[in-house]
Amino acid sequence: MTPSSPRAVTVRVPAKVNVQLAVGAARADGFHDLANVFLAVGLYDEVTAAPADTLTITCEGPDAGQVPLDRTNLAARAAELLAARHGIGEPAVHIHIAKDIPVAGGMAGGSADGAGALLACDALWGTGASREELLEICAELGSDVPFSLVGGAALGTGRGEKLTPLPVGGGFHWVFAVADGGLSTPAVYREFDRLTEGTDVPVPVASPALLDALRAGDAAVLAKALSNDLQPAALSLFPSLAATLEAGTKAGALAALVSGSGPTTAFLATDADAAAAVADALVASGTCRTARIADSPAPGATVIRP
Ligand code: C5P
Repeated sequence: MTPSSPRAVTVRVPAKVNVQLAVGAARADGFHDLANVFLAVGLYDEVTAAPADTLTITCEGPDAGQVPLDRTNLAARAAELLAARHGIGEPAVHIHIAKDIPVAGGMAGGSADGAGALLACDALWGTGASREELLEICAELGSDVPFSLVGGAALGTGRGEKLTPLPVGGGFHWVFAVADGGLSTPAVYREFDRLTEGTDVPVPVASPALLDALRAGDAAVLAKALSNDLQPAALSLFPSLAATLEAGTKAGALAALVSGSGPTTAFLATDADAAAAVADALVASGTCRTARIADSPAPGATVIRP
């Protein structure tokens, strides 16, 4: 650290919803090729990096107890990877995560913390990594991590890490129903493989109708184009999600779908008032633990302090 280095850096990172998740057949490396249309939504984790004697992680928030505080946390791995590339050795940093994104929910909360820690450590250590290098490290950390860095809307191909930014012509109002429990992403992909065994899984492609709806900022058209190939697998492993989807649809949501690998479910609403009504109805239905309202698109990982 140089004398002018900051004492602590805080980065704000958004959650995401997949407005299209087209999944291809399993590849030789076990991953699946995707056409993954990411949209960042305004639910955020805040990741703070501060100098310390050794690498430590703490977490606060309602679900903090479910967050691993060891080196399996993507925030720790991000610090290690950046330090190794820049000859820093053992990263002496304390990473604090103020967690607001549902844990193990299919909203890229862990990926957000990886991208946030990476940006925070880069600023704290003055490593001055290029955007390209940061994106490379993000891709090493996980398939969804590059998108947490860039935010907005993007098409992810390959295993989801190769990003093409997408234009979005207006804001969208969402409600997210947080389930009681989590789903493991690898388990949901394994279930997808089991359910599609013996069938001809098509090559995943982005839907032109969906991209048009995003470009136009038209919620009614977007609602008709939403799709998630992992939804049958998530429902198979977490059957009670069907009741949550039905409760939000009955309450007037334009569309309902499982967010990514789940078990969070996402509901697109006409406007802010409709979103509030859907959230109230979801909570009253007793089919979820809580409901959160968020708008999109949202910016990617951003240094907010100092
Ligand atoms: O890349 P990430 O570590 O987030 O992926 C977690 C797991 O999800 C992988 O180990 C794999 O089982 C599954 N996955 C997949 N295909 C993708 C992305 C993730 O099979 N494109």
